[in-house]
Amino acid sequence: MGRLDVRARTHLDSTVCYIAREDRPQEQVTIRELSLSGALVDGLSTQLSEIFAIRPVLPGSGEVELLAKLVRQGKTGAAIRLFYSDHDTMQALWVHIRDNLSEENSCPYCGHPDGSREGSCDKCNLYLNFAKNNYLERHIENTFAQRLNIRLSRLNLEHIQKIIHFVDSKLLKIQHRSPDKEFVGTSEGMLSVFSMIRKVAPTEMSVLLLGESGTGKELTAKSLHHLSTRRDGPFVAVNCAAIPETLLEAELFGYEKGAFTGAYATKKGKFESADGGTLFLDEIGDLPASLQAKLLRFLEDRLVQPVGSAHSRKIDVRIVAATNCDLQRAITQGHFRTDLFYRLNSFTIKLPPLRERGEDKVRLAKYFLEKFSCSENRSMEFSDDALDAIRNHSWPGNVRELENKVRRGFLMAAGTVVDPEEMELARYEDPGVGAVDCKSGPVRKDQVIKVLEQNDYVIARAARQLNISRPSMYALIKKHGINRGDMK
Ligand SMILES: Nc1ncnc2c1ncn2[C@@H]1O[C@H](COP(=O)(O)OP(=O)(O)OP(=O)(O)O)[C@@H](O)[C@H]1O
Ligand SMILES: [Mg+2]
Repeated sequence: MGRLDVRARTHLDSTVCYIAREDRPQEQVTIRELSLSGALVDGLSTQLSEIFAIRPVLPGSGEVELLAKLVRQGKTGAAIRLFYSDHDTMQALWVHIRDNLSEENSCPYCGHPDGSREGSCDKCNLYLNFAKNNYLERHIENTFAQRLNIRLSRLNLEHIQKIIHFVDSKLLKIQHRSPDKEFVGTSEGMLSVFSMIRKVAPTEMSVLLLGESGTGKELTAKSLHHLSTRRDGPFVAVNCAAIPETLLEAELFGYEKGAFTGAYATKKGKFESADGGTLFLDEIGDLPASLQAKLLRFLEDRLVQPVGSAHSRKIDVRIVAATNCDLQRAITQGHFRTDLFYRLNSFTIKLPPLRERGEDKVRLAKYFLEKFSCSENRSMEFSDDALDAIRNHSWPGNVRELENKVRRGFLMAAGTVVDPEEMELARYEDPGVGAVDCKSGPVRKDQVIKVLEQNDYVIARAARQLNISRPSMYALIKKHGINRGDMK
């Protein structure tokens, strides 16, 4: 590979100052060769790894200051690397280099015999129009990837992973855990969902989303869209179960004026509205047989024919479909076409039900409470009992049900703490209490107080001594009317 900067012969008197060592006297040196990234200097006595300032006097612009570091000392002089703190200095140096370039009829980067200073070199492709005002910007842009590559080739895998992490998290602010900050989850099931979303989003594959009602299928479809190259195109959602069968075809594929009674004007269908973007077909299991055939045709040739039109139109749409019904069963019962199923099923993401997401239940509940609190400028939290109730509820309605319960709790709580009752959730009764009661009879009030005193009224420790859970300990305290003001 050739060089990435052009070099000019020159004779620049310069002063060198040792920034970190004020006691060291200044030196007078001469720059004999100069490029944007470095120089060859006579008379320099510095050590390797020392950073110093060099101040060449440029004819025309006067003295400029750059930071520099020694790369090597040789018989022909010292090679130094230059660092810039501002663009003006770089520009001034470039003007000096440009004015002192030799008049050779070859590319000054790679030596290719191309004397013209128009456009880019045929061999190394670097920009040669030195006279242009924007030369410097173009040159830096041009060589950026190559400079990066040179450095990358010296790194090991661990360095590269650190850099990717830095770029993602600090510069691009990409969340590693979920595709976006509104998609909450760190349970094993959800991490696997996020990883699948990230893998399939940038492709053109159709995706089928399966999962119980309220598990986040629509949220997943939106994430797929936002992480795809279609993110600037439209995201159009159609609920196939919500539109009467007779209207669905016109709604999806559009119609021509006069196609049927009431078609007063030509209307675009959802496919066309989603052109260049993503079409989310929700409740795909409810798509009538005639439209299943039409959708299959679309997936095969990407053509859309509006109702009443003799012509088809090519549409560029990615299909994401979702259902909470058992498509395999619908196939066996003859309600869903096998060929369409296999077309859509090429990549399937199954959203786990909330009851299988462990502590995500609590994470989601806290996320929703914070969201509602922020929108109303209030600060709310859950009581320990509320968190236990959330953990132990069976959540048939999944995330949507959780969101609704939290919203209710947020609205109903009188103070700043949400209790289970305010979310209409049953308090969790730890079976452990029964077990203790069965073995040794009910724990008396004086026993409870004694254990509390022994444990400095720290509930968790007292509960441990009685071999019961914290909620059970609270239940005992409440049952005996012990003053909670004394507790820690
Ligand atoms: N992991 C999650 N993080 C944050 N919010 C979520 C998550 N999953 C779902 N939600 C929220 O829960 C609600 C229901 O989600 P969504 O509409 O995507 O579910 P769905 O599977 O399409 O439901 P349905 O089958 O009823 O159409 C939405 O308000 C959504 O924003
Ligand atoms: Mg939905």
